[in-house]
Parts: sequence; C-alpha cells; structure tokens
Amino acid sequence: MVQVLPVTFEHHRDALGIGQSAPRPSWKTTGDEKDWTQSSYELKITIHGPHAKEEKSETFKVKSSESVLVPWPCSPLKSRESATVQVRVTGAKGSDPSEWSVPSTVEIGLLGKDDWKSQVIAAPRTLSASNSLQPALFRKDFHLSKKVQSARLYITAYGIYEAFINGTKVGDHVLAPGWTSYKYHLNYQTFDVTDLVKKGDNVIGAEVGEGWFSGRLGFNGGWRCIYGDKLAVLAQLEITYDDSQAETIGSDKTWKTTHSAIQAAELYDGESYDERSEILGWSTPSFKDDSWSAVSELNFPTPKLQAPEGPPVRKVETVKPKSIFKTPAGKTVVDFGQNLVGWLRVHVSGPSGHTITFTHTEVLEHGEIATRPLRDCKAKDTLTLAGKSITWEPKFTFHGFRYVQIDNWPLGDPTLSDLEAIVIHTDMQRTGWFECSEPMVNQLHQNICWGMKGNFVSIPTDCPQRDERLGWTGDIQIFSPTANFLYDTFGMLSGWMKDLAVEQIKELNGVVGVVVPDILPRQYTKPQAAWSDAAIITPWDLYTAFGDRQILKDQLESMKEWLEKGVARQENGLWDPDGTQLGDWLDPDAPPDDAGKAKTDPHLVANAYLVHVTDLMSKICKILGLGDGAEHYGSEAARLKKLFQEEYVTPNGRLAPDTMTSISLAISFNLYSTPSQLLSAASRLSKIVRFSTFKIGTGFVGTPLILPSLTQTSQSQLAYRMLLGTKCPSWLYPITMGATTMWERWDSMLPDGSINPGSMTSFNHYALGSVGAWLHGTVGGISPKEPGWKVIRFEPIPGGTVKWAKCRHESPYGEVKCEWKLEGGRLQVVVQVPLNCTGEVKLPETDEVQKVGSGVHEFVVEGHDAGDWPPKPLANPFTDPEKDEFEGK
Ligand code: BGC
Repeated sequence: MVQVLPVTFEHHRDALGIGQSAPRPSWKTTGDEKDWTQSSYELKITIHGPHAKEEKSETFKVKSSESVLVPWPCSPLKSRESATVQVRVTGAKGSDPSEWSVPSTVEIGLLGKDDWKSQVIAAPRTLSASNSLQPALFRKDFHLSKKVQSARLYITAYGIYEAFINGTKVGDHVLAPGWTSYKYHLNYQTFDVTDLVKKGDNVIGAEVGEGWFSGRLGFNGGWRCIYGDKLAVLAQLEITYDDSQAETIGSDKTWKTTHSAIQAAELYDGESYDERSEILGWSTPSFKDDSWSAVSELNFPTPKLQAPEGPPVRKVETVKPKSIFKTPAGKTVVDFGQNLVGWLRVHVSGPSGHTITFTHTEVLEHGEIATRPLRDCKAKDTLTLAGKSITWEPKFTFHGFRYVQIDNWPLGDPTLSDLEAIVIHTDMQRTGWFECSEPMVNQLHQNICWGMKGNFVSIPTDCPQRDERLGWTGDIQIFSPTANFLYDTFGMLSGWMKDLAVEQIKELNGVVGVVVPDILPRQYTKPQAAWSDAAIITPWDLYTAFGDRQILKDQLESMKEWLEKGVARQENGLWDPDGTQLGDWLDPDAPPDDAGKAKTDPHLVANAYLVHVTDLMSKICKILGLGDGAEHYGSEAARLKKLFQEEYVTPNGRLAPDTMTSISLAISFNLYSTPSQLLSAASRLSKIVRFSTFKIGTGFVGTPLILPSLTQTSQSQLAYRMLLGTKCPSWLYPITMGATTMWERWDSMLPDGSINPGSMTSFNHYALGSVGAWLHGTVGGISPKEPGWKVIRFEPIPGGTVKWAKCRHESPYGEVKCEWKLEGGRLQVVVQVPLNCTGEVKLPETDEVQKVGSGVHEFVVEGHDAGDWPPKPLANPFTDPEKDEFEGK
C-alpha cells in the first residue's frame, strides 16, 4: 500500500517563520508498488489566523501527477498565519486513495516592514586590544500577566548573535543571522519560544559579536566595519495568551547593555574569553542590571528584512581527538584525525587568571603546526580561567583545522577526554552517497564531502581557514553539480543567488562580482568568465537538480544583465581579448606564485564559456515560455560558436591551443561542428592524456570536464586510469599524503611533506572535488534525465580496477539507487526507481535504453568488457617511461 510522507514546503527543512506567502507543498510516496504513478492528489488545508484566533479548513482535489512544489491552492497566507496540511494521493484509475499523510505545519514570518514594531538597538562601541569590537550583552526584564499559549521570537542583529530567555539559549543556531549582502538583505530568525516564557517575571537577552557585519574580512589585511561599526540587535517577542490576547516585547530604549565576558571575537583571529568577567545569571529575572548602560536606538534597517531561504548554521557533529603529542619543539598538539571546520570544546580547571591558548591549523610541517598558509589570520582562541572547572567553547568565530597547539594547559597536559571538536556548517539535509570497491576512491569521496561541509558555512566559500572565506563565484559554479547531489543545497544557494543579483544589478552595472557578498574594493570587480558565469550556470544547475523553474524566473534579470551588459566584449561579441581572465585557475603547471598562468589560453576558456552560457540562456528562455528570448539567444549562441570555431578550431578538429582543458571545454560545450572534428578531438585528447602519463593537466575549469569528456568520447578506461592514478598531480595523490579534505592545489603539500610555497595554499577547497559529479553519474551510474529527477538516467560505466559501486540519492521523489558488481565478465546492475518516477537504463555494450517504472529492477550483462586495462602511456623516447603503477592489477 502506498504511503505518503509528511508534506514539506518550498525548500525548507523547517517551515517556521518562512518568507513565502503561497508555500508550494511537496511530498514523497513510499511503498513496494511497481510502475506506480500518481494520477491525482488531495490537499486538506487548515489555516490558522495569527494568535490562533480563527480556523478555516478546505480540501482541494487536483488531477495531476505532480508531487513536487505543487501550486498553493488557497489565497496567500499573511504574516504570522499558519496552515496545517495533509495530502493523500491516488494511483492509476480505479485505485483507492492512500491514507492521509500526518499533518505538517507551515508558519509565515514577518513579511512586511510594518510587522516590525521594535527598534534596532546598539551598544556603545568598545574596542578590544586588537581593534575589533568587543561583544556586547543586551537584556530586558518583562512581566507577563497571564498564562501563555504560544510565543515567537523574531530576531536579527548587526553582527552575529545568540539569544537567551530566562537563562536558556534560544534555538540551536550558531553564527546567526548568517552572512548575506547586508546592504540589501538581512535575514531574521523565527523561534518558537513557547516553552521558555512563563506567566510572571521574564528576561530576554542577546549576546552579539561582530561576525561578518563589522569584523575584518578579506586578504592583504582586509577591511573592517564593512557594513557598519556598531553591534546591534533587533528583537520582537510576540506572546499569545491562553485567552488569545496578544502582547509584544520589542527591542527599544528600555533595554540595557554591557560588555560580554568575551574580550574579543573575530572570525579570522579567534575568540578570547575571560571567565572572570562572566556575569552570572545576567539573562535571568533575579539579576539587577542597574550598573548596565543605556542602549542607543538606530534607524530601522534599510536592507530588506527577510526570512532565510536555507537552513541555519548548526553544530552538526562532534569529533573526538585521535592523539595528543609533543612536537620536536616541545609543543603540545592535539590531532583530530580529520580536517574540519568549527571549534574546540574543552573541559578544564585551573587557577584563576590562568590563560590557555589554542592555535588551529590544517597541517603540520616539520612536525610543527603550519601557520603560514593561514596568512593574516591568527586562528587562535584563548581561555582565561576563574579558578573553577569549566566546559568552554567559543561562539563568535570558526576555524578550519585538524591540529590544535595547546599552550599553557594548567597542570601538565590535556588528556583526550578533555577535548572535542565541534563541526559546524549550514545544516542542509544529506542526500547523496557513493561507495565502490577502491578504498582510495572512497576516501576521495569522503574528502569531497568534508570539503563541502567546511565550505558551506552560511554562504558557499572558498576556504575556511585563512584570511579569506569568501563566496567566490567560480568555485561554486564548478562545484555545484556535485554539491547538489550530496546535500539539499537549494535554499542556501537560492538565497545566495539573490545577493549575487542585487549587487550585480544595483551596483556593478551588470558585472557579477568574483565574490558574493562582494566586499572587495572595486578594482577586483572585473568581469570574469567561469566566475561571473555563475549568474547563469548555478541557477541552471539548481533547476537540473531540483526541478524548480522558479529559480530561473527569479534570476532571469540577473542572467540577462550579465550577458547584455556585464560581459566585456570585442566588437564581434566574443570576449575582449585585452581584459584579464582568471582562466583555468591553478593549472598544475602554473608556478606557485602565479595561479592564473595556465597552459590554456584564458580567452579560449572565456569564449567557450560564453557560447555555453548563451546557449543555456536560450534553453532557459524556452523553459520559461519566452519564445523571442529563446530564438535570440539561440541564434547568438550559434553565431558565437561559429566565431569560436574560426578563432580556435582547425577544419580537421585540432584546437589551438590543445590541452586537456581546451579540448574538454570544446567537447562538453558542443563547440565542434562536425562528427569528424569530434572524433579527431577524442583522439587528440587521448594522446594528451596518455602523454601526460595520466597525470592531471587541468585547473579549476578543466577539472570537472576532463573525465566526462573522456567518457563522452567512449574512452572511459582513460578516465578511470586518471581517476585511479596516485602520482602528483592526481585526485588520489593528496590521499597518499594523508589528506582528509580536498586541497586547493593539486600539490598543496609537496611529496616531501613541505607546504607549497605559494601564498595561496588551502587544504580545504571544494573546487577540485568537482570530479564528484562524474563519480555519481558515471561510476555510480545515476543522474537526472530530466530536471528534478522525475525521469532518472541509470548509466553505470564500470572500468579500471573498480569491481563494484553503490550510489544513492534522496531525490525530491524519494530514494534513487544504482548498485553494480562485476564478477569475471558478468556485470550485475540493480536500480531503484522511486514511486511516481520512471527510469531509463542504459547498460554498457548496448545502445538500447530500457524504460522502467517505480520499483527495483535487476539487469545482467554477460561477457562485459570495459576495454584494455591498464591503458598505456605514450612514452617520450628520450626519457624513461614511468613504471606503470597498475601493472599486474
Ligand atoms: C580563492 C579561489 C578563487 C580565486 C580567484 C582564491 O584566493 O581561494 O578559490 O576562485 O582566489 O582569484
């Protein structure tokens, strides 16, 4: 019997205080039914007015097979209104409807400016020793005269905050309200605080640190107070009493403020906490705040106050230390065995006034913690004790680390049980898993996942450890197909895309910043192919993975502005050849101090991307029903493609220059004009790959494309050979060096264990992990055939020494799975199609595509032959060919 799982709304994990007034419901159906498709659904919706006064129920029956993001059938909800929604579905004609799903609730936040009755209140500016703003406390006593039925706290800050009611922290968010382009968008959070308030005396409080709002951001010393120079809070506690009467306690001049016990807290440099300054019970009713200062009221925020589209940053896991050891210099260092992002939690006791220092690094060099890659970032927390035992962790900073040097631990050294690492990231739902018979490939996949976790911290960032942590557009443009498979990224990335658009349109005259939020001085805001192209490609990738057309609609203006105004063109429409381009960033042959010096002409990269995004734009217009746009961009793409060919492709299909990256771009973006050109490109690519002895020759741009290009040209064994190689540069080389995350450079650590001398050397960068999409789609064998996974493509291509693989994805419709194993020449493939979906199965050695409905299906191919293994390198006759590491495997 088909069962319906609880309804979800829009892309929210938790639909409390959302910003969409007509929230589109989605549901998944489960059961063993074969070939089941939905023919209709019924939604039972009960609307509750604000303060639970009125209630209205209605049922809507719709003939449709849609079960993802269906239209909201009632009138739009207003601020504070909520709805309880149940669904039941019917399969083919004549079948009985399912049971109703258990009720789900959606509640609207504060949609308009008028909903806010509170004031933004600021603390006096107090500078720490390092010139940062010392965190501040805010508090307000209030009395509730009657029994409370429900209570909501709407809150945000200039800075990052934690809220408290009657001594208890509100909610489980960290680094709230998260980072947005604060000039235009400021997220507020909604918390259900019914259980925290009570009849009688109460206190609401907030602790605020500078975070992204006023803290130092950026390289070369960075910039302070980018968005403002005062720590402030905006809070509105709305109470509904048992008798349905309402009362609001908002931030205003009656609140008081003082310094926090945190002496300084900076995202890069770390946090210093002095327990002796802790004000016990400051957020409880019995506390007297006579000595606290008055707050000042600021103007109401000019940015749009909005409910977040994605989930908050949370503490998601804890990692226990693996070992504590002494370095050659006699320092005490703890090793967590995993490069991660977050902070330490310590349990310690010691004399009052005793200060312990914790310095965080990703790697060791010569046995000592390696701080050089952190550049201008201290990554140092200090804890000053008050003579008691304490469990402490920072709250207004974060670090990227595997190792922590601990200086001045009281009375000897810490033990393993004194320390743990707290892992934080945007708390997206995990949706993708992959495993195969090669342990090193599994480690690579794990490193890709850790690289993603550490760099999805409110915005998609480039690195979590040094003086950067910015939303580089090129990095996410390259990585998002992998990311969208592994986690439900939609809400987080769609929110970020809105920042990209608003900055581009309001400030940059169509140019898309290389970082979003754009905090860099204007000289960095140059149009950059592959980076700025995130304006078109990233919404497209979100559409492909989640099937939500709305993202294309929402971003359309930004896409057009980019193509019409932003791209710096020469007269014929191709990129201006004199502008600078980041190009195939971090080509392995680029010198350590010049990451853009790639083998592949950066203008070829730019022009290949231009044809691709113009073509995508035509597709997007078509999907949105914009016939004229589709035609215009379609013919423009064809015209640019012709110009590209004239400029770079010889009639016989050679490319100038011909590199792994250029050929992969031309194959992936369909830039050849004849099948014979494509054939000669395939053979050229094969030669280049073999001549490189299967080592990687691509930077950021070529890396996601090289293996798919080999696969697309029926050369999968070459792709496997590249994947499985362990010599530098390769995907597995870092693993031979003990990597537990993806590195920024192919050789962030050199084979002798020293760190790449380049000043830009992170050990936690997701871009080179973009190979994940090929692991999922080709080794794992699953990808969406149509946007949103309603039709699934199963096309596993076994190869190399991989003997089995298992891949699964929690799609918007339910779990998609593909598992295969190879024994002798017998290939067995088992696929799982969720209810209400269909699958198209293409097995190796046949062109036939088999269509299947929901359920589990098994296929066998006898006499499977993946091709010669290991493929041979092309040796230079004057040098010794490298010993083949796959001999005998
Ligand atoms: C970042 C990159 C980024 C690049 C572009 C670096 O500092 O870490 O990942 O894309 O700069 O300039």
